[in-house]
Amino acid sequence: MSFQVTTESVNVPLIGERRRVDPCTIVIFGASGDLTARKLIPALYHLFESGQLPTPFRVVGFARREKSHDSWREELRAALEQLSRTKSVDAAVWQRFAGNLFYCSGDFNDSAAYGRLKLLLEGFGDESLKQNLLLYLATGPSQFAVVAENVFQVGLLHKWEDGADHWQRLVVEKPFGRDLQSARLLNNDLTRHIRERQVLRIDHYLGKETVQNILMFRFSNAIFERLWQRETIDNVQITVSEKLGVGSRGGYYEEAGALRDMLQNHLLQVLSLVAMEPPVSLEAEAIRNEKVKLLQSIRPLRPEDVARQVVRGQYFAGAIGGEPRIGYRQEIKVRPDSNVETYVAVNLFVDNWRWSGVPFYLRTGKSLPLSASEVRIEFRPTPHVLFAAREEASMMPNVLTLRVQPNEGISLAFNGKVPGTNSALRQVQMQFNYTSEFGAYTPEAYERLLLEAMAGNATLFIRRDEVESAWKIADAIREGWGAKPLTNREFYSAGSWGPVAAEDLLARSGHAWHDPQPSV
Ligand code: BG6
Repeated sequence: MSFQVTTESVNVPLIGERRRVDPCTIVIFGASGDLTARKLIPALYHLFESGQLPTPFRVVGFARREKSHDSWREELRAALEQLSRTKSVDAAVWQRFAGNLFYCSGDFNDSAAYGRLKLLLEGFGDESLKQNLLLYLATGPSQFAVVAENVFQVGLLHKWEDGADHWQRLVVEKPFGRDLQSARLLNNDLTRHIRERQVLRIDHYLGKETVQNILMFRFSNAIFERLWQRETIDNVQITVSEKLGVGSRGGYYEEAGALRDMLQNHLLQVLSLVAMEPPVSLEAEAIRNEKVKLLQSIRPLRPEDVARQVVRGQYFAGAIGGEPRIGYRQEIKVRPDSNVETYVAVNLFVDNWRWSGVPFYLRTGKSLPLSASEVRIEFRPTPHVLFAAREEASMMPNVLTLRVQPNEGISLAFNGKVPGTNSALRQVQMQFNYTSEFGAYTPEAYERLLLEAMAGNATLFIRRDEVESAWKIADAIREGWGAKPLTNREFYSAGSWGPVAAEDLLARSGHAWHDPQPSV
């Protein structure tokens, strides 16, 4: 098979500067999995539709099951009709897009299968399609190292040399190990033959517009940056709540739990963006250096600290919005006496000059009343409260809320005088809302991430030392929990905001959780 092509890179606006995305082939290992149909292909389709993919490009799906190029294309189209963010697939656009999709069947352990993959790529003719390769590991974690080794052995992966004409990059989905030790081993395996900068570890939270906006917001607005420190900020709350339970993912979740599934990655990433020092530039390494420094400044948790500063929980049967919900222990593939946490809340401290003494409260859980992710920055009260005698009850703190999702936006709460002859105060809000400001279009996280990966911009991907620093924090928590079973105070009813113990965690310092509000 060979193609006559004219090559054309596309210039796309990426973090920091406009970058070139060269013609390339994206090889998806584990192409029959959920991620490919739900996220990767819809993202690539939308990028193609909006003219953001280079010409030419190819996508090759690699998975065990035998199927033809056409049957794979058919499957993907059916999935896209259901899952595309625009809920519609333009037949003509799909036709042109689908002509770039190919399938190669093979077992991940079978070196002959990689030989077949290489042959398929060679048939693409164009050097860029043969040699600019984004090798996407959408497989189970146990296959990461096997695939990386095989693509290297068959000659599809080369160590990047400065000035080289072509590039190959490995894109890896979480989990990156299950603790520090396994993460180190995995990182060693992935970088055995290539450079760290060729490994792009995905945390899809970094692909969200609103998460990217944290840095933009902080470092382009002098008024807020000046307030971003211990003398003005009283506490920070990061909430990632999910309405869904574990659903069909019980098997995976039994091994992960909320700590590994969410806190170790998404929440600590958001924390590092909220709290890091200004980077020296918008280059990937400059930003990642600051994020690592922040993670390393988090006060280590000793086992006795875990008892005081961390709360885990597990949902039992309840109801959400009037719908009955089963408990975690009744979910498919979950042990009936499981002690796995579906909720975790932690009070962390960042021991540096900027944040000394400011509590950072992070929480995430499944089967909570609604799905919402937000960062709430609460400012200290005024030094002298003029209105205290009369208005104490209504003097609320100033609060800046970064709404990551849904109802994406930022609000600032402050006190204002209620019109009238008395001096009553009430909290009022200044609102920025993405949809009303910029219209409804917000690209899916994977669109951004794939584009950045093709362009070789590592800013939105997690560097080795970030992963390892985050595991140190998660491991300390797990060690503190040990093998202790869950106690009554750690269970919560599906549809509530988590276990009672989580309220105590904040009450001890005179704080309280502020739950995200349903979007109107
Ligand atoms: C994934 C977790 O990384 O993030 C899931 O494995 C979780 O358990 C999901 O549901 C949440 O992502 P989002 O983008 O829906 O907030």
